[in-house]
Amino acid sequence: MAFDVGRVRGAYPALGEGFAHFDGAGGTQTPTGVIEAVADAMRAAMGNRSTAFRPGRRALELVADARAAVADLLGADPSGVVLGPSATALTYTLARTLGAGWRPGDEVVVSRLDHDANVRPWVQAAEAAGATVRWAEFDRATGELPAGQYADLVGERTRLVAVTAGSNAIGTAPDVPAIAKTAHAVGALVCVDGVHSVPHGPTDLAALGADVLVTSAYKWSGPHLAAMVADPARWAALRPAKLLPSADTVPDRFEYGTPSFPLLAGVTAAVDHLASLDPAATGDRRARVRAGLAAAQAHEEAVFDRLLAGLAARPFVTVYGAPARRCPTVSFRVAGRTPAETAAALGEADLCLSSGDYYAYEFFQAMGLRDSGGAVRASVYHYNTVDEVDRLLAELDRLADDEGTMVR
Ligand SMILES: Cc1ncc(COP(=O)(O)O)c(C=O)c1O
Repeated sequence: MAFDVGRVRGAYPALGEGFAHFDGAGGTQTPTGVIEAVADAMRAAMGNRSTAFRPGRRALELVADARAAVADLLGADPSGVVLGPSATALTYTLARTLGAGWRPGDEVVVSRLDHDANVRPWVQAAEAAGATVRWAEFDRATGELPAGQYADLVGERTRLVAVTAGSNAIGTAPDVPAIAKTAHAVGALVCVDGVHSVPHGPTDLAALGADVLVTSAYKWSGPHLAAMVADPARWAALRPAKLLPSADTVPDRFEYGTPSFPLLAGVTAAVDHLASLDPAATGDRRARVRAGLAAAQAHEEAVFDRLLAGLAARPFVTVYGAPARRCPTVSFRVAGRTPAETAAALGEADLCLSSGDYYAYEFFQAMGLRDSGGAVRASVYHYNTVDEVDRLLAELDRLADDEGTMVR
């Protein structure tokens, strides 16, 4: 069934303001179902978690519901879903916990393609333990992260391989299953950053070969919360630093403080929204989420192809990387303007694109682009349309005309 983008857009009140949002990679807009779920949870009587009174039981239910929803999104066990404020915070918790067990001579492998949230926590934990950091390199021309290099990067001292399932800078979707296979052959743990990939297609924890997968709900129509998932047995083997009286059970012991119960209601509603993207889908929520994201993916790819073709046809635009498997995200520069100037000029036309390094620090450093302002990023989400792409391309032409850099 064809993806009905008009129907889907109708679910997002913010789209009525007329902005063209090409910054889903930085955070998506919020559908009505999520807004109402958060408001309903705030309107209802609520207590801190307690079995003694109903408002306390509501709080317990909101946590359990959010775990179940995230589990359906990722093909995980709800008891393995750790909830937290952000992917960065959760990764730091895990890095400190794992790092406490590392010894000098142990090794961790990170990649230069990754967002810094899946680099620095590991590098710093390795430094604290006296462990060695090894770097996986991306191909400067294509932006691919060759999986073959991991055979040389891992060894019997490798404790962890951290890798992205989708670059937030240029969209590259590395062959994570192949990388995980290499890592598992030496007994290393695989931590996958799914923050950029999860919004753009069906995800399956086991198929990826991820021991731990991290995702942020605000990149898939939810509120600013995140989750880190693994087999509950994995969590049971780890002991994070924690307060003495807080729950010592799994997954709760990895969660710090009192969570935002209303926002957790929004996480559940966001997964329900993804499960509604293909109205013809049937079955349980896991099946409907997969169908919904597959339908969204086909739509996003069509919109993104038009964007890529349009950028490639403009000689005053330089596009970085051309990965074969990718999320619908691209970084580029426009001749004669810094990335910040381009983004600001596009912003004047209500076209929302970010510029800079978007925390893909190592990527832009390796490309030699970081000191001169990084790039401009366009990312496509399921509410974007070909008309919005045409609007963006027309505005780029106008900027180039202004600059006198247009070559026809
Ligand atoms: C690929 C990727 N990983 C990690 C993060 C960090 O996520 P959070 O803001 O939830 O810490 C981001 C945020 O943009 C991201 O794009």
